Amino acid sequence: MRKILIAAASIAALSLAGPATAQSPIVIKFSHVVATNTPKGLAAEKFKELAEKYTAGKVKVEVYPNSQLYKDKEELEALQLGAVQMLAPSNSKFGPIGVKEFEVFDLPYMLPDLKTLRKVTDGPLGARLLKLLDSKGMTGLAYWDNGFKEMSANKKLISPVDYKGVKFRIQSSKVLEAQFRALGSIPQVMAFGEVYQALQTGVVDGQENTWSNIYTQKMHEVQKYATVTNHGYIGYVVVVNKKFWDGLPADIRANCEKAMKEATAFRHGQSAEENDHALLAIEKSGMRQIMTW
Ligand code: LMR
Repeated sequence: MRKILIAAASIAALSLAGPATAQSPIVIKFSHVVATNTPKGLAAEKFKELAEKYTAGKVKVEVYPNSQLYKDKEELEALQLGAVQMLAPSNSKFGPIGVKEFEVFDLPYMLPDLKTLRKVTDGPLGARLLKLLDSKGMTGLAYWDNGFKEMSANKKLISPVDYKGVKFRIQSSKVLEAQFRALGSIPQVMAFGEVYQALQTGVVDGQENTWSNIYTQKMHEVQKYATVTNHGYIGYVVVVNKKFWDGLPADIRANCEKAMKEATAFRHGQSAEENDHALLAIEKSGMRQIMTW
C-alpha cells in the first residue's frame, strides 16, 4: 500500500516537474526527517534561499521537515520513484538501498574532528562514494555535517559493562549494529521519527545522537541520563533524483549546483553551534545527569 501511495505521488510529481514557464516554476521537493532548527534543517533552508535567488524564481524549493512526508526508508524509495526530488539522509541510511559503503563513517572513534572528516569527504574517497549512487537512480551532490554523537539511556552509562543488555535504537547501519553488539547491547533499527515514542514507552532504553537531534526531538524529556562520548559522527549525503537532475535545463542545473555549493560552504563549521546550543538547553531542562566519559 505504501509503495502504491509513493508511486501515485511520483506520477503527480512528474507532471509538476515539467519545463519552467513564467507561471509554473520547477519544483524541488526536499524531504527530511529532522526539525528545521538543526544543522540539516538550516542547510536545506539555505539551499532553498540561494537556489530560488540564483534561478530568479524559476526553481521553487519546497522543504518538508520532520518526516512530514516520509520516514527514513520511505524517503529513499520516494526519491527513486520521483515523488520527491531531493533528500539528505545520514551516511548510516544507504545500506537498505544497497550502498553500504557510506557506513564507513559510522566506525566509532575513526574521525577525531570535523576538519579531518572534511578532508575525506572533499577528497577522492568522498567523490568515489558519491559515484556509487548513480546506479541507484540518484546523484550525490554534497556532504553536510551534523556532528558527533552522544549516548543517552534511562540508566547511567559510564563504563562498557553498563551497556550490557540495554536496548538501543539504531539507524539502519550494520556498523552501528556491530558497535552495540560488541558492547553486549541489543540494537534495534528504527526510523528517526519513531524514536521519541519508543523511548517514552520503553520499547528501547536508549539511543545515540547529536545534541541538536536529541533536543529538537525532545528525547531528553524521556531519557534520564546522557554521556558525552563523541564516539561517532552523523553527517548527510545530499541526493537528488538523477533523471530529474539530468533533465533540468543546463543553466538551471548550474545555478542549483552553485546554490548547493554555497549553502554547503556557508553551513560547514556552523553545525557545532546548534549542537552546543542544544546541549545548554538540555542542561537547563529536566534531564537528570549529563556525564562526561
Ligand atoms: C537519526 O536517524 O538518528 C539521524 O540520522 C537523523 C538525522 O537525519 O539527523
